[in-house]
Amino acid sequence: MENHFPEKAPKILKEKPFWWKEEVVYQIYPKSFYDSNNDGIGDINGITQKLPYLQELGITMLWICPIFTSPMVDNGYDISDYKGIQPEFGSMGDFDELLSEAKKSGIKIILDLVVNHTSDKHVWFQSALNDSKSNYRNYYIFKEGNNENPPNNWRSIFGGSVWEKVPNEENMYYFHTFDKKQPDLNWENPVLRQEIYDMVNWWLEKGISGFRIDSITFIKKDQDYTDVIPDGADGLASVKHKGRNRPGIKDFLSELNRETFQKYECVSVGEAPGVTYEEYDQYIGNNGYFNMIFDFHYADIDVESGSEWFRRTNWQIKELKNQIFKSQEAIQKNGWGANFLENHDQPRSITKYIKDEKYQNEIGAKALGTLFFFLRGTPFIYQGQELGMKNFKRGTIADFNDVSSIDNYQRSMLEGYTSQEALEFVNQRSRDNSRTPFQWNSSETAGFSESTVPWLKLVGDHTTVNARVQLEKEDSVLCYYKKMIQLRNKSKYRETLIYGEFVPMNTTDHIIAYERIGRETIQVIINLSNQASLIEGLSGEILLNNYSEITYEKNGLTLQPYQALVLRKEENNG
Ligand code: GLC
Ligand code: CA
Repeated sequence: MENHFPEKAPKILKEKPFWWKEEVVYQIYPKSFYDSNNDGIGDINGITQKLPYLQELGITMLWICPIFTSPMVDNGYDISDYKGIQPEFGSMGDFDELLSEAKKSGIKIILDLVVNHTSDKHVWFQSALNDSKSNYRNYYIFKEGNNENPPNNWRSIFGGSVWEKVPNEENMYYFHTFDKKQPDLNWENPVLRQEIYDMVNWWLEKGISGFRIDSITFIKKDQDYTDVIPDGADGLASVKHKGRNRPGIKDFLSELNRETFQKYECVSVGEAPGVTYEEYDQYIGNNGYFNMIFDFHYADIDVESGSEWFRRTNWQIKELKNQIFKSQEAIQKNGWGANFLENHDQPRSITKYIKDEKYQNEIGAKALGTLFFFLRGTPFIYQGQELGMKNFKRGTIADFNDVSSIDNYQRSMLEGYTSQEALEFVNQRSRDNSRTPFQWNSSETAGFSESTVPWLKLVGDHTTVNARVQLEKEDSVLCYYKKMIQLRNKSKYRETLIYGEFVPMNTTDHIIAYERIGRETIQVIINLSNQASLIEGLSGEILLNNYSEITYEKNGLTLQPYQALVLRKEENNG
């Protein structure tokens, strides 16, 4: 239906336009996207072959998780050569081809920049480890122990001490925020920093459009390296207290920005956990270190801490709403955000956010999609989210691959939970949930790989949840995502949906609703409960609806369980 409301004089948009505000990003976990040569592992040529799918979906930029040379202990987040391509993913030639083919399809590419640490197999670290006189020792963090004990009691993100003993040397340790095979780089060393900047610029010269910057708030550690009061049954204290977003980090981050990103037409997206809203101005303001950052405040609403899955919360929709609003308002005040529902470190969103299992289906997937997609910021869609892929249910810890899942399983039991309970936590939260092979069709291997057993087991629901079936089905989650992308980027509401102001709407607790105000007012309303609910005063043209019907009332609209609407507000209605 054509819009029949009187045109108001267009409001002047307050927002400064930038190309990266207009992108719709699609995140690819290369190991699990598409396997082009049937070895059970997704690869770069697989991405190139699936460009038509991505183009049809309508996304405009890809963020590809690490494809660099790596022993794959943390699936590529342990890099042993920053300028090489991991052979199981392909070659540099394959990457160059992907870059140029994507460009032809109007798709930009950003890569993952992992510079808090390298792999222990990196030549720098090998030299540092094996030769105490090596210049590379100062590329990493080596310290003497404390009477046969590690230098302090900090716990790494993946469990156990942050310190690993150096073999063949007495009383010497090296530092790792994550796994022991991911030694931290020493950002205090200007020679190392320069080496990193040169590498970043080398990639930018190649023509990529920018970077997602991994774990970047960990690069500065308190230089006293003193003990912290233990915060767990293992007697250790999280590295976050003294090794994340610490005083002095500003100097490193502004230098990184100045020496690299600022010299190019590129986008920088920071993974910056631990940054408070008060600090957002420094991070994403006018002279911020990054163009945008991910906000993890509500991504971890179901747990007290994103790295300790056994500390679960009993969260309510009202809290989720408050946190989303708070986040949007803080970002709007300071700059621009990167919005996401899922990524490779999170479980699938329908399992996490939809409380009533009956609605962990297409309706629920579309409701969540609507909620996140129209927030102010650049939307990031994680592979499979557009199909409504769900968590799996594994019967034994042996079925998990992810390092942090195994650590969480062991730590849960150390905290006093039974092995059954520990398995339950891991099933709910494991990063493997989102790393299962992409479901292309209903064949035995879901079309991910033609003949081989994939590297990680499938979820098991691919006979119904798959791209081929959903492309044909008008009311599928996939077609709904296509419509959302179309509405944001190609419709006459584009300017409002990209640049319009974010304004929260005041509704009942379990309804999350907001307006985007620009040339017109667009309202986004989601019922996140299994109760139908009347909202008074709603009227206007419906632009999107995850149900096939609308329940009009005399004084408004009734939203069915998990119903989501996008509505162009009737202007003479106030
Ligand atoms: C980031 C990545 C995660 C990785 C970690 C260490 O959080 O997203 O996958 O394990 O950093 O690099
Ligand atoms: Ca392959």
